[in-house]
Amino acid sequence: MKRWEEQTALVTGAGRGIGRATAIMLASKGVRVAVNDINPDTAQATVEMIQTRNGKAVPAIGDVSNEHDVAQIHQTLNAQYGGVDILVNNAGIILKQPLQDVTEHEWDHILAVNLKGVFLNITHASHHMAEQGYGRIVNISSIAAKHGGGYLGNVAYGASKAGVASLTRGAAREYAPNGITVNAVMPGFTHTPMTDAMSNETRNRILAGMLIKRSAEPEEIARVITFLASPESGFITGETIDVDGGATLD
Ligand SMILES: NC(=O)c1ccc[n+]([C@@H]2O[C@H](COP(=O)([O-])OP(=O)(O)OC[C@H]3O[C@@H](n4cnc5c(N)ncnc54)[C@H](O)[C@@H]3O)[C@@H](O)[C@H]2O)c1
Repeated sequence: MKRWEEQTALVTGAGRGIGRATAIMLASKGVRVAVNDINPDTAQATVEMIQTRNGKAVPAIGDVSNEHDVAQIHQTLNAQYGGVDILVNNAGIILKQPLQDVTEHEWDHILAVNLKGVFLNITHASHHMAEQGYGRIVNISSIAAKHGGGYLGNVAYGASKAGVASLTRGAAREYAPNGITVNAVMPGFTHTPMTDAMSNETRNRILAGMLIKRSAEPEEIARVITFLASPESGFITGETIDVDGGATLD
């Protein structure tokens, strides 16, 4: 078992929202956090927030759907810190229009960011984890995976997040012999820039389907991610955990 202070984490899409809250929470445990985002300014802002709190953080700028960017990020982290012990695959984008109106380019793009990005980061991070016989991978899916979208995002979004859930189970099986756990969190309605632009009508429709009549704060999702990333969660793998205010009830 590795202590928090001995570990390096990579959190993708950590320039804002759930990713930023997770990066800050992991850093508060003593973990060195590589803050990935496609947006260098927001990634740098998260790094500075962590450093202001006396935490350890470095920027790791790049597009998770781009093999070259992902390889470069992991090469740098391998060279500087010996590799990643905790990988949080959080970066994601949403599409809201009906399936009928989705172009081929939009379909390819959302699958590339939300699903291929997870595949690329897992395969690059797993070498070091397997070598040391320890690793924690936490993927961010969504309850849209179970609803076929239609809740926060559309069908393409739901399909990409269902892919993340399946990838989580398969990767858990493949990497278990190497001491690596792979789990997913399925957030429900969470208060982040992704959901800020929502109309009142949509907000009320979503709240009507929840037992707890409010959105989650990003920290409430980050707390579950941090538990799954912790040394103490070693007997949980291949699991997907709903954090959805009682929206799904399964
Ligand atoms: N907010 C919700 O209600 C909710 C619900 C369920 C699941 N989720 C999932 O949680 C994750 C975080 O959501 P959020 O609400 O914080 O979103 P957000 O839009 O507020 O933040 C996402 C971050 O990912 C970054 N990003 C986007 N594309 C990227 C790429 N190709 N490479 C690297 N970074 C990229 C963005 O720049 C942004 O900083 C996403 O995967 C989302 O699908 C969110």
